[in-house]
Amino acid sequence: MNVLIIGGAGYIGSHVVREFLDHGHNVTVFDDLSSGLRENLFPEATFFHNTILEYPALLAACRGTSDTNGFDAVVHLAAFKAVGESMLQPEKYSLNNISGTINILNAMADTGIKYMVFSSSAAVFGQPQYIPLDEKHPLDPESYYGFTKLEIERIMGWYDNLKGIRFASLRYFNAAGYDARGRITGLEQNPTNLIPVIMETAVGMRKELTIFGNDYDTRDGTCVRDYIHVNDLSVAHAAALDYICKNNKSLKLNLGSETGATVLEILESARRITGRPIPSIFSGRRSGDPKALTASSKLAWELLGWKAELSDVDTIIRSTWEVYKRKGIKV
Ligand code: UFG
Repeated sequence: MNVLIIGGAGYIGSHVVREFLDHGHNVTVFDDLSSGLRENLFPEATFFHNTILEYPALLAACRGTSDTNGFDAVVHLAAFKAVGESMLQPEKYSLNNISGTINILNAMADTGIKYMVFSSSAAVFGQPQYIPLDEKHPLDPESYYGFTKLEIERIMGWYDNLKGIRFASLRYFNAAGYDARGRITGLEQNPTNLIPVIMETAVGMRKELTIFGNDYDTRDGTCVRDYIHVNDLSVAHAAALDYICKNNKSLKLNLGSETGATVLEILESARRITGRPIPSIFSGRRSGDPKALTASSKLAWELLGWKAELSDVDTIIRSTWEVYKRKGIKV
């Protein structure tokens, strides 16, 4: 298929591009490089450097070239994703995430592209009422970021009804790890997520890891999260696109490993694998952090035959360390 991957130079996007190329798809990447990196691009994929906020450029990209003869599908991973920032600068998230997605859907409608895979988030659920979270869990985002993802899911529902655009909305839990075959090496810039922060501490780019809270009612007092390897996520994107094309039906799926790891368990694995001390201190809780979040990915298994294969903590840490140890500043 001819697939336009928007946000394909980003951390998750580049892994998805690699997976689609491996599947034999014809891939074009569209990215504004605001957080994506040229280093993450593959020579087999055509690249458009532009923003989803420039409608004419987006429309031209969706039309494709005479080579591609248009696109069969769009994969959209071009949203901003910093939860804390979204609470301070909601305008930025309204514009890029919500207006940007409306532009993408309008360009798809204008050019007759019928399928979209969208990177949604477990943030659409808010504080869990029960775990593991399945797709029936109430939707009540705690952050403006989560709200934008939920709003996009709702808008996609309308475009499905009104314009026949079928979508797969994939609600990632904690995306982590790097390509198991070492083909992606771009480091995330100014990361705030736990594992890249740990890695930056391991290589001396940061003095210490601050652990947000050790008084939660969990096995060691720190928060539990469901870390899902980006290669596993990428496989799910390809399978989800197959599903919506074959069944002409939209879907929303939770994607996680179905297991939980605490902050201290992640840190212990990182210290063991890197052989670095990784100093840490405890601070107070971070506002909005639920004590535990794990996914039920039963529906993904039933519909796509998908389950996580590379998402054990050590595989996630080892694949990430392979990238950081080559790039980071030595202590
Ligand atoms: N944490 C620390 N110190 C840090 C960073 C994180 O202790 O410097 C802790 C957090 O308090 C949390 C855990 O590590 O307990 C994971 O935090 P992340 O910031 O890595 O991830 P979140 O669980 O907050 O959020 C992530 C994504 C969201 C997504 C969510 C869905 O960043 O986009 O998973 O589960 F919505």
